Amino acid sequence: TLPYRFALEEVTTKLNILRDEFNEFHDHNPIEHVLSRLKSPASIIAKARRLGCAMEFDEIERHVQDIAGVRVVCSFVSDVFTMFELLTSHPDIAVVDVDDYIAQPKPNGYRSLHATLTVPVLQSSGIRDVFVELQFRTVAMDSWASIEHKLLYKYEGHVPDTLADELRLASEEARTLDERMEHLRQEVERAARNGSS
Ligand code: GTP
Ligand code: MG
Repeated sequence: TLPYRFALEEVTTKLNILRDEFNEFHDHNPIEHVLSRLKSPASIIAKARRLGCAMEFDEIERHVQDIAGVRVVCSFVSDVFTMFELLTSHPDIAVVDVDDYIAQPKPNGYRSLHATLTVPVLQSSGIRDVFVELQFRTVAMDSWASIEHKLLYKYEGHVPDTLADELRLASEEARTLDERMEHLRQEVERAARNGSS
């Protein structure tokens, strides 16, 4: 898992640079927090089984593309897309796949911007492109996902219908909150521009 750890560090460093730069030049912190994790060997094997891939190193690494995962929690929806565009504009980073669950939420109400990237990692044996799974979301999307995850766990994968309905409603409300926040932010920026001119 060494190359995956390096890949996580690469992505995290790039995000930290973007955040610091934004703070410095735009007087705005677009990133609330960044979380990274490596999938445990047991979950890697479980996922490889689920995908039906051959139990060989190369095959597993080719199919299980979320061994390294980075979650970026942003202040506003616009930050989600700005940070995603900036990060992926880096010449080192190649986008393999994007799932925009913000434009198109999952049926349960889940919202986030997902992408699979590859990052080149230089090793003594040469350069290797390593997969990293990225999740970009707002604070509201993040708290929804964390509660949904807990309920799913508590009910062992089968949330009762009434709760599932409530989750979908909560997801709608989180979306409304995100829209309101975006609006407020525009107001704050307008006021700041008028104040300083
Ligand atoms: P996984 O085997 O779960 O990785 O599925 P996948 O490879 O088809 O990817 P998907 O984009 O569906 O989900 C990847 C990750 O996003 C998950 O491991 C979760 O962290 C998160 N995620 C996706 N869907 C949901 C959801 O409905 N609820 C919550 N709480 N998290 C989700
Ligand atoms: Mg995945």
